[in-house]
Amino acid sequence: MLADDRAELVDLLERWTLAAEQMTAGQPAGTGAVDGDVRLPPDDTGEALDLPASGLSITFGFGPSLFRDGEGTDRFGIADRQPDALRELPHFPGDILDPARSGGDLCIQACADDPQVAVHAVRNLARIGFGTVSVRWSQLGFGRTSTTSTSQSTPRNLFGFKDGTANVKAEEGAALNEHVWVGDDAGAGWLAGGSYLVARRITMTIEVWDRQPLGDQESFVGRTKGTGAPLSGGEEMTEPDFDMPGSNDQPVIPTDAHVRIVHPDAHGGVRMLRRGYNFVDGSNALGGLDAGLFFIAYVRDPGTHFVPVQLAMSKNDALTEYLKVTGSALFAVPPGAGPGEHVGQSLFA
Ligand code: HEM
Repeated sequence: MLADDRAELVDLLERWTLAAEQMTAGQPAGTGAVDGDVRLPPDDTGEALDLPASGLSITFGFGPSLFRDGEGTDRFGIADRQPDALRELPHFPGDILDPARSGGDLCIQACADDPQVAVHAVRNLARIGFGTVSVRWSQLGFGRTSTTSTSQSTPRNLFGFKDGTANVKAEEGAALNEHVWVGDDAGAGWLAGGSYLVARRITMTIEVWDRQPLGDQESFVGRTKGTGAPLSGGEEMTEPDFDMPGSNDQPVIPTDAHVRIVHPDAHGGVRMLRRGYNFVDGSNALGGLDAGLFFIAYVRDPGTHFVPVQLAMSKNDALTEYLKVTGSALFAVPPGAGPGEHVGQSLFA
């Protein structure tokens, strides 16, 4: 937020809501790209003309700094509504965060089956906010890395492994209530029915990974690369057996395997809705891919459902040798806007 004015923030959210409604319906923003006054810049930038809505969804979030800035100033009169769980994430071992790719007062996640439609949405929302907001950082991703419905087949991440096998699925209503949606009892009534979005830009050292033997890659993950079955046997959806003995007095799923370290059994049963994407931002100075996983997870409380899991991963997970976390952010995602409401209306009511 460039502006410090509450009315300006609410006005922005109203204008964003209207534009989001238009664009998710496959329409251009405002009066469109070509139907306005020829003496004025068009309301819409035009690159999504002739394209369908492409399943566009737009999700907005509020960062901790929207409630209190770095000096603790309550810029928008909402500090008393900051949820206890909405604090900057702690520093995790191995994080090499770029401040220019971290944090933010507001967030927009636009997803679509066509990247041109997603980029069009973000570009036009940023444009609508010109003078009130500026873009701090952005990340383009592709090829979702997690299944979110039982109707999808599991996609793969850039390590070549199936990703999303054990994810919370849209069909699991009870699990969504328990692990993803913020409840009425969480102490921030305006956020009930919303969620928290954790974003982590995780660079993967692709070329180093590609030199590891297949057996080692599978040991790091704890699943086979082909079918995604746990190393303890069965098929993709078979529950891992972490007690099954392997060779050398070691369990067959190694003690530092990713799926063991992050498994709900190791964290009091907590699960998260992973909603990440692969990314490739060209090449780095060594000629390797500047690539990785733009990890996004939705949880009902980052303090219980993300921080302990990430901490365990940073300390003990075999995968971390091939990862560098270069960006990080946390946002509270308000519940969906009903007819006639603007996004985040409950926060300002
Ligand atoms: C580039 C980084 C990462 C890679 C390549 C990766 C890869 C994978 C793979 C291949 C699986 C197994 C299939 C599945 O159930 O989806 C998995 C599962 C999982 N990952 Fe990751 N992951 C990464 C980062 C993270 C992070 C940062 C977290 C959270 C702190 C996380 C949490 C989980 C969880 C909760 C599961 C499901 C475990 C289960 O219930 O069996 N992952 N990941």
